[in-house]
Amino acid sequence: MAENGKKSVCVTGAGGYVASWLIKLLLSNGYTVHGTVRNPGDEKNGHLWKLENAAEKLKLVKADLFDFDSILAAVNGCDGVFHVASPSTTSGPNPEVDIVEPAVKGTLNVLKACSEAKTQRVVLVSSFVAVVINPSFPKDKVLDEACWSDKEFCRNTNNWYCFSKIAAEAEAWAYAETNGLNLVSVCPGIILGPMLQHTPNASTFILLDLFKGGDEAMENNLRVIVDVRDVAEAMKLVYERSNAQGRYICTSHMIKNEDLVQDLKEIYPDYNYPKSFKQGRGVPQVSSEKLQGLGWKYRTLKQTLVDSVENCKQIGLL
Ligand SMILES: NC(=O)c1ccc[n+]([C@@H]2O[C@H](COP(=O)([O-])OP(=O)(O)OC[C@H]3O[C@@H](n4cnc5c(N)ncnc54)[C@H](OP(=O)(O)O)[C@@H]3O)[C@@H](O)[C@H]2O)c1
Repeated sequence: MAENGKKSVCVTGAGGYVASWLIKLLLSNGYTVHGTVRNPGDEKNGHLWKLENAAEKLKLVKADLFDFDSILAAVNGCDGVFHVASPSTTSGPNPEVDIVEPAVKGTLNVLKACSEAKTQRVVLVSSFVAVVINPSFPKDKVLDEACWSDKEFCRNTNNWYCFSKIAAEAEAWAYAETNGLNLVSVCPGIILGPMLQHTPNASTFILLDLFKGGDEAMENNLRVIVDVRDVAEAMKLVYERSNAQGRYICTSHMIKNEDLVQDLKEIYPDYNYPKSFKQGRGVPQVSSEKLQGLGWKYRTLKQTLVDSVENCKQIGLL
């Protein structure tokens, strides 16, 4: 896809954690990038201009997910679109308006704009939470791309972020099938790794929470982790490979909080870690075999942890 033609792509939510790494990768591979941001002049997008080739090949376009015309202007002239923008908050006074609507309406606006602009391929960032949350899945089943989370279960348990990701991806597939749009989705686990942006994103706090110490026992939740740089590689890979199709689970390591803390203690013994753990949430096994079949490779967990911690130290979060 676009390997032989002009290489111009749009990335929505350009200033965010994942989008920034994706843009860095695309720029360093010769792509021209239209990055959508809500406010191009905002200081929080300043890091994008420091990326290699940004001066020549990056254009920041003002666009809001609710404003169809602004999205159309951003995707016009692009061969491909990476739809990354979506609210990453998990709660709030009005989650259906603040979380679900931008995710679902925003995704449909992007896809409609892509149809109108005759975009060759759209890569949607979904999440492994759109795959694994379903009480009817047998506990010992290794989940693959055919598995879908139960949207109504998430609604009934007020799990609005997960609801928003399931609904947005499901609506995207329905739209793409009806309208003949070339769509591929990537479903990453919890994304860790260094930040390019200055404001810490939601998933970085999952790591920072392990350094809080305190007397209270921490829930020994099972974590499904993938490095942000490996997610960017996965998105570029599914965009470029003409044989890529459907959904791609994108996860690398499954580990419980207690073991994660043990790994961190061995490298960074002087921090204040939780003293004890209590029963936490489990997650079914998921497989990234399909993505690996395209040639996707991932970093070691140790590399991700060290690079994350060093980055947090450098910017004063640890
Ligand atoms: N981080 C993870 O662990 C993880 C795991 C699986 C999937 N994902 C998915 O990966 C994508 C990126 O997440 P991230 O971790 O990079 O989060 P992030 O840093 O918070 O980035 C989210 C981006 O979405 C933009 N956005 C939100 N609402 C918008 C709206 N109404 N109009 C325009 N832009 C809007 C934000 O723009 P502003 O800066 O203007 O708010 C921001 O650039 C999301 O789709 C997320 O669901 C993340």
